[in-house]
Amino acid sequence: MPASNAANVRSIKIVIVGAGSVGVTTAYALLLSGLAAEIVLIDIDTNRALGEAIDMSHAAHYAQARVRVGDSYDDCAGATAVIVTAGVNQKPGQTRMDLVKTNYGLFKSIIPQIAAAAPDTILIIATNPVDVLTHAALKLSGFPVERVIGSGTAMDTTRFRHELGKQFGVNPRNVHAVIIGEHGDSQLPVWSLASIAGMRLRDYAAQKGIPYDQEVMDGCSQRTKDAAYEIIQRKGKTNYGVASVLVSILEPIITDGDALVTVSRVGTYAGVDDVALSMPCKLNRAGAHQDVPLLLDEKEKELLKQSAESIKEVLRACE
Ligand code: LAC
Repeated sequence: MPASNAANVRSIKIVIVGAGSVGVTTAYALLLSGLAAEIVLIDIDTNRALGEAIDMSHAAHYAQARVRVGDSYDDCAGATAVIVTAGVNQKPGQTRMDLVKTNYGLFKSIIPQIAAAAPDTILIIATNPVDVLTHAALKLSGFPVERVIGSGTAMDTTRFRHELGKQFGVNPRNVHAVIIGEHGDSQLPVWSLASIAGMRLRDYAAQKGIPYDQEVMDGCSQRTKDAAYEIIQRKGKTNYGVASVLVSILEPIITDGDALVTVSRVGTYAGVDDVALSMPCKLNRAGAHQDVPLLLDEKEKELLKQSAESIKEVLRACE
């Protein structure tokens, strides 16, 4: 790692609240990334969290970060970012929204404590339903809007690019396509702006003689939307994909990288205000900035409005 970056890393402390499978997989991915000097795990089960930290410290020959367990939320002090993964997660057959009552109650307790200990940090929310809880974290922390970020559809966008990469035979990194709106059942694939090699998907497909019709599009977006349900049905949880997405959100915050990532942030969407949904945001050391007004077509705007209204309804029920 170049000296300047190494110096940068030495001042980076990341706290992960919740040492369940998402939290510890994120800690491990962050450890191997070399982006942080100190990774602190906070969990009510300190014994298990300590087991995770000791185990990860034995990967130290691969990475220089120190991994330790925090005694209380006071250990959030000085953190560049605090990732919140604490809460119950989906069981087979459950939707993310089914978790709202329990996890909203947990947030009422933990978010004010985190905010008091680390008033200048950036909150990154991964707990589901992430859009509702990103809104809750903003209200409960009193932070400026750009410093409360939900992982949102960054996960779905990654899955969408994976599906399109398979369909078109290219690396997902070469697929420019986003999922916006809710990290959930009303998520919205923005087909009108999707491209590969600077060409709209329809043109790329025609050039390559690859089938591209409504059936192909529906298949890709349905597999994206259903991915978490399938994984949870098979292994009981998801962790690797979301952990890598959380590190990809952290990276431009730590390096002040101005990367465009579809993350959840409170704002106004298709005329619906004060709701958290995902759109491409510019991420840097100051947080998430809504710098990318997507040119949606009329149908996409209507679907985004429906997504915003469905989240708003759940919000009203919580508050
Ligand atoms: C998933 C969880 C993070 O989609 O909601 O894997």
